[in-house]
Amino acid sequence: MLRSQPGDGMIKGHGGNIYALAREQGCTPEAIADMSSNVNPFGALPGLQDHLLTKVAAIESLPEADAAAISALFAEHCGVTPENVAPGNGSTQLLYALPRALETRKALIVGPTYADYASACRQQGILPDYLLAEEERHFAVDLDQLASLAGQYDTVFICNPNNPTGVLLPATSLAELFASNPETTFIVDESYLPFAQAPEQSRDVYANRPNVVRLTSMSKIFKIPGLRIGFAVAHAHVIARLQRFAMPWSVNSLACEAVVYILQNPSTADDFIQETQVFLARERELVLQRFAHHPSIQWYPSCTSFMLARLKSPHTAAKVHAGLARNLILVRDCSNFKGLTERHVRISLKNSAANKRFCVLLTELLEKA
Ligand SMILES: Cc1ncc(COP(=O)(O)O)c(C=O)c1O
Repeated sequence: MLRSQPGDGMIKGHGGNIYALAREQGCTPEAIADMSSNVNPFGALPGLQDHLLTKVAAIESLPEADAAAISALFAEHCGVTPENVAPGNGSTQLLYALPRALETRKALIVGPTYADYASACRQQGILPDYLLAEEERHFAVDLDQLASLAGQYDTVFICNPNNPTGVLLPATSLAELFASNPETTFIVDESYLPFAQAPEQSRDVYANRPNVVRLTSMSKIFKIPGLRIGFAVAHAHVIARLQRFAMPWSVNSLACEAVVYILQNPSTADDFIQETQVFLARERELVLQRFAHHPSIQWYPSCTSFMLARLKSPHTAAKVHAGLARNLILVRDCSNFKGLTERHVRISLKNSAANKRFCVLLTELLEKA
């Protein structure tokens, strides 16, 4: 277990900065293959952008202050009541509000993982501890150790599947963990769950447990990160506490229209999600096979839209990032993730042609050094 330092993580510490790279390379942001941002390689849900074009006039009115209508729709979709749902300006707004709402005093983050959990804790004035999964175990979380530590914390953050390792914790193990630590609140970030072929992760295994908050994002699977919409699903008493920190009009009019479209077209959304899962499983396998015996890189298995790799000496994430950037491919240098090093990179899979081009350019780069 590790203690964190003040100042870890930062508002600029994310991937996806195509604007800075475009300025540097003298091109448009659209010319960049952004393999640093973990969104659906198929693009937005079919029909969604056309639908939004017909709804542009909605920006002339304020949206509902509490986004009650879309919360009710989302609750129905999840098989819970509206009292179990809080909408947010992306899951980001909710994850930053949670430590305040829960009055978190002692937090544990299961890592290496997304830096914003630590940033959210710091905004609440606390420095979280970390339980870091070991690379030798391909970043599998030590669930026994987690079970023995969790009771010492009032809040535990788990990203499932985990960004950036791609590891999925089985719902049944999580359900045991939650049941055996009733005094601890577990924040489970499921932003990337729709990408995983994991029917056993059935939502009702731990639905409505009083000590579990599930975070969902619409940004990733439906490729609408610019709209900013996510939900928290939890016991009514947790949602009531969270709502004390809600801001009016957090979910804008077009984001509300997008949620209505997505939830009122369930078969389009389900088919899209399934096709995405099948495509990603195939593309991940191609990357793994392509570099299976490569002496300079090791890829870790993932269940989702992104993959983490370790570069072997003398290669570094910074050099690979720079080499690919010159070819207008942006990947995520993971050296600022607590528990990773200057040799870790993450890619988000794109369409087949882009993935192949990436593999060819990466092979060339690794052979040059
Ligand atoms: C693990 C994780 N959770 C949450 C978010 C934030 O997503 P949203 O767009 O819903 O705010 C991200 C964004 O990169 C993420 O990687």
